[in-house]
Amino acid sequence: MGALSGKVAIVTGAAQGVGRCHAEYLAREGAAVVVNDLSPAVDDVVSTITAAGGRAVAHRGSVSDWGSAEALVDTAVSTFGDLHVLVNNAGFIRDAMSFSMEESQFDSVVDVHLKGHFAPAHFAAVYWRNAAKSLGETGTLPQRRIINTTSESGLFGGPGQGNYGSAKGGIITMTLVLARELGRYNVTVNCIAPRARTPMTEVNPKFAKPDAGFDKYDPANISPMVAFLASDHASDVSGQTFIVLGDQVHRIRPTEISHSIAAGGQQWTIDSLAAAKDLLFGEISSGVPAWGGPPM
Ligand SMILES: NC(=O)c1ccc[n+]([C@@H]2O[C@H](COP(=O)([O-])OP(=O)(O)OC[C@H]3O[C@@H](n4cnc5c(N)ncnc54)[C@H](O)[C@@H]3O)[C@@H](O)[C@H]2O)c1
Repeated sequence: MGALSGKVAIVTGAAQGVGRCHAEYLAREGAAVVVNDLSPAVDDVVSTITAAGGRAVAHRGSVSDWGSAEALVDTAVSTFGDLHVLVNNAGFIRDAMSFSMEESQFDSVVDVHLKGHFAPAHFAAVYWRNAAKSLGETGTLPQRRIINTTSESGLFGGPGQGNYGSAKGGIITMTLVLARELGRYNVTVNCIAPRARTPMTEVNPKFAKPDAGFDKYDPANISPMVAFLASDHASDVSGQTFIVLGDQVHRIRPTEISHSIAAGGQQWTIDSLAAAKDLLFGEISSGVPAWGGPPM
């Protein structure tokens, strides 16, 4: 019996990279998995899972297409009878500085990440809300999960990624919105920012596999945290964001007010704001915030 026995999960963008590792790990822990991607390599992932005795089905289609996202959720329910875990992971990068970025680069990246997270979440939420309603007041709601994928670029603002960083930042906010909306249906919603060697990052030599010792950037290192969030152990964890890499998990402190000033029942002026500026920032620098991610 794995920690996810009896659960049905969707993993988007699971033909390779981090998503493939999630699909295989969740299946090893007993989940039946819908393996989504645009790539025909989903069939290979399904074969790998079923050859190891797991249960999986492929769904080929874009996460940012409304109809395809609906079909993705339908595939889980029609094949395995329910849906408990949605892992939103699919995406790509098209980096450029703000002054060089083309409209198509901006639109495609915002589309695949922001809409590509929301569309499957929307159809999962429709299904879960209907399932809760048909259960009535007395039934026990199953535990449900959404696990989103942001990036350190979305947390800290990666230069050259005005499209990607903005979309990934939006995913952190979307995580909070969905967590607040769907808690009543027993759905927790959390977010991870992975750091791993995949086709997306392998051009960077810092991600290379070491000759010996722990392979810090093995993409498989990310999946246990996703499986933990998917499991019943994490029923009280929601609206949270974590950076996950190697042997590390970093919880992000929720955004909060650091300093406040008030003008005493009257409108601020430029001069009074200038005079109160030191109180507004206190000991915190008023310049561009430092990059807060863990070192490589
Ligand atoms: N690898 C890292 O270090 C890193 C860092 C930060 C965030 N991330 C995020 O993690 C996730 C996985 O990244 P990865 O490194 O494994 O990348 P990857 O390129 O190896 O895999 C992404 C997968 O998404 C699929 N995909 C792209 N568009 C799709 C669509 N419209 N519908 C369905 N599938 C689609 C691709 O075909 C690919 O198989 C992404 O959201 C990425 O932004 C990765």
